[in-house]
Amino acid sequence: MTSGIGGIRRMRSLAGIVQGHLRLPLLRIGLRTGLFEALREPRDASELAERLELAPDLLESWLRAAHAHRLVRCKEGKYQISGFVSWLLDAEEAPAIRALLDHTALTYAPRLDQISELMEGGERPEFGSPEEALRTAAVARMMERQAIAALARVPGVRAARRVLDIGCGQGTYLAGVLAHYRDAHGLGIELDPAVAEEAQRTLREAQVSRRGEIRVGDFMTLDLAEGSYDLALLNNLVYYFSREQRRALFERVSGCLAGHGVFAIQTTIAADDRVTRALGVDQSTATFDLVLRAHRNLYGLPDPEEVFSDLREAGFEEMGSISIGPGGSLRYLWARTGSP
Ligand SMILES: C[S@@+](CC[C@H](N)C(=O)[O-])C[C@H]1O[C@@H](n2cnc3c(N)ncnc32)[C@H](O)[C@@H]1O
Repeated sequence: MTSGIGGIRRMRSLAGIVQGHLRLPLLRIGLRTGLFEALREPRDASELAERLELAPDLLESWLRAAHAHRLVRCKEGKYQISGFVSWLLDAEEAPAIRALLDHTALTYAPRLDQISELMEGGERPEFGSPEEALRTAAVARMMERQAIAALARVPGVRAARRVLDIGCGQGTYLAGVLAHYRDAHGLGIELDPAVAEEAQRTLREAQVSRRGEIRVGDFMTLDLAEGSYDLALLNNLVYYFSREQRRALFERVSGCLAGHGVFAIQTTIAADDRVTRALGVDQSTATFDLVLRAHRNLYGLPDPEEVFSDLREAGFEEMGSISIGPGGSLRYLWARTGSP
């Protein structure tokens, strides 16, 4: 099996699969125990064990494994974090990256493990425990800076002064928009009370709470003034709605918007072109679609043509699509209502 170049290649592919699977828990150990923080400075195993009060034998063995997986470097018996881990700790998106690692381990992996059972007719679990809701909202912030920049390219957004953020999560998009457009006012709607509390905190911290409000509840049933928003945002939650629910959602959004109002839907789509393949993004989006469908209250990634057709049916007129980041698998699908 291992003879010749082909055999070696096959063994390397197999090792790559197993190593990727093992690297994630090793990473999470380093983050959760504070070992990576402590290893910003070179330290030896006994100094670390004493400092963090950790079992010395497990710690030594973890250090060797983390070294073998290139997560830490070792020089003359002293360990220190690698450049990659240093980026993980200090990147602007560090909280989102951490949430993504936790989400992969705690939601993706167990769900993927269940797929064969679900394919045979097993009952699909419901998505949205309080921890999952908080983690998902945190992960959604991964591309936030690029998304807010892309949003400015959606026709009508720069002139919008009354903003509605549907399923606002931690409120960071709303805060970002209100900080950017100083005479804009906004309302964020969030189903999960704990996430909504975070959103309120975000608005206060960004010093925009005078112009921004968060309401807890279901967008589909909350009492909202008709025709009073210039911009409605739906960031990263279109797959919380089945096609039928989506049509009702779009009609409700259309009713909330003023004449010539803009509706901007941020969503991942299952792109499969040369750039997404080169970036490996085709793998993550296709797997994301599978994980979504494994829940009874989530639906697959949307087909943009179907979204445009549903938008047209809901009375939207002009529409288009803007790419967020390279490859175009994350995009704003936008549409505008007609004149008043
Ligand atoms: C994946 S998160 C995205 C959060 C935020 N929009 C972002 O992109 O950072 C989706 C959020 O929508 C909320 N949500 C789902 N359905 C909703 C509904 N019908 N009304 C209001 N919020 C909803 C969820 O609780 C969750 O916090």
